[in-house]
Amino acid sequence: MPAELICFEPKCRACYPIDEVIYSCPRCNGLLEVVYPDRSLDAAELKKIWRERRMSNAALDRSGVWRYRECIPFVEDFEKVVSLCEGNTPLLDAPRAAAYAGLDRLAFKHQGFNPTGSFKDNGMTCGVAQALRLGMKRVACVSTGNTSASMAAYASAAGLDPVIFIPHGNISYGKLAQALEYGARTLQVEANFDQILALVRVLAERLGIYLLNSINPFRIEGQKTIIVEMMDQRDWNPPDWIVLPGGNLGNTSAFGKALREMVQLGLIPRSPRLAVIQAEGSAPFYDLVRHSRSALEPVKKPETLATAIRIGDPVSWPKALHEVRCSNGVVECVTEQEIADAKAQIGLCGIGCEPASAATLAGIRKLAAAGVVRRSDDVVAVLTGNLLKDPDYIYRYHTGQLKAPSGAQILSRFGNQPIVVPNDPDRIAELLS
Ligand code: F0G
Repeated sequence: MPAELICFEPKCRACYPIDEVIYSCPRCNGLLEVVYPDRSLDAAELKKIWRERRMSNAALDRSGVWRYRECIPFVEDFEKVVSLCEGNTPLLDAPRAAAYAGLDRLAFKHQGFNPTGSFKDNGMTCGVAQALRLGMKRVACVSTGNTSASMAAYASAAGLDPVIFIPHGNISYGKLAQALEYGARTLQVEANFDQILALVRVLAERLGIYLLNSINPFRIEGQKTIIVEMMDQRDWNPPDWIVLPGGNLGNTSAFGKALREMVQLGLIPRSPRLAVIQAEGSAPFYDLVRHSRSALEPVKKPETLATAIRIGDPVSWPKALHEVRCSNGVVECVTEQEIADAKAQIGLCGIGCEPASAATLAGIRKLAAAGVVRRSDDVVAVLTGNLLKDPDYIYRYHTGQLKAPSGAQILSRFGNQPIVVPNDPDRIAELLS
């Protein structure tokens, strides 16, 4: 039986063929999930095949997404796949960051090593494969910067026409520059992410453009492979915790789905707990869980310098809530100062990341101090984006010029000021001695 789309709402569960161009349930407007009805797969055999593919030079096998294609079997014709060798991201031990967080050990799964520098590439290769399957010519997304960079690259590589919508003045230049360079038609809208998503959904339908936001269930399928690859790198030993930043909550949905499916297939013996970390000024999911509300209350004016997660009305919250519950997970939120300091600490590990990614370490530190994460726990944090995505933030932090959206000064606690020196060996030697 082929893959199907199923409405995520427990009361609806309507099914649709994957050839329909829909992003939410036509009956109840619920989120859609890709399901694979008939799956009698042998876990030991899969692990063996995936290891062998690491030795192969075939493009599909070299991709850290398509290597695990048995986990995402919605594509029949692999000619339709465009890969930029995504995935293959390292798992890095970070003892210094562990000490900062109050843990014995900590590893980072660094998605910033992807071709466009963020975790979005894992999902985008799948989203674009589905766009090609459906015969779509134009693709669109609204983005805080990384989705648009990734979509622009994959769409252009596939010969599709990318159109991106971004909140004017609120994404980093690194990300905007990527979209321009990869050839996307770039529209800077005078509105925030949540408002633009509503706009783009209307336009996509009106103009027949395929929408590649994380509401698109095929992107979620690709993002599952971040977890599959992580477990493969750990010889299928699940950690106690997987920690990730939460914005629109697509990644939380993908990680949870991956964990459920992997336990079901017998690839891992148990599920790690998910810990989702939000920035204080953009934390509607944290509020939902903290106050045990029945529905998410959007934050009307989301604020954070971690612009990637500056989202007040995360579209995937019902899925993310389900996944947090299924994994016995937690949701935490952190301040601008905590994110900035954690980011500098990740830098001092020789690793580095963009601001949103650093919310993970800040969150772990807070959860460890509260005793939720224990010192001896085995923790993997997912760094979602590359350090060079937002160099302006870094320069400001280290030179004491970083201000929170409230106007409050961010202290340059681990700052590293560049020093201007004269062209004089004596003076420089004196300074360095
Ligand atoms: N980290 C980074 C670097 C991101 O770019 C994003 C989301 C997230 C974390 C949050 O992931 O939305 O799945 O919860 N960026 C999106 C974008 C919204 O448009 O690039 P999420």
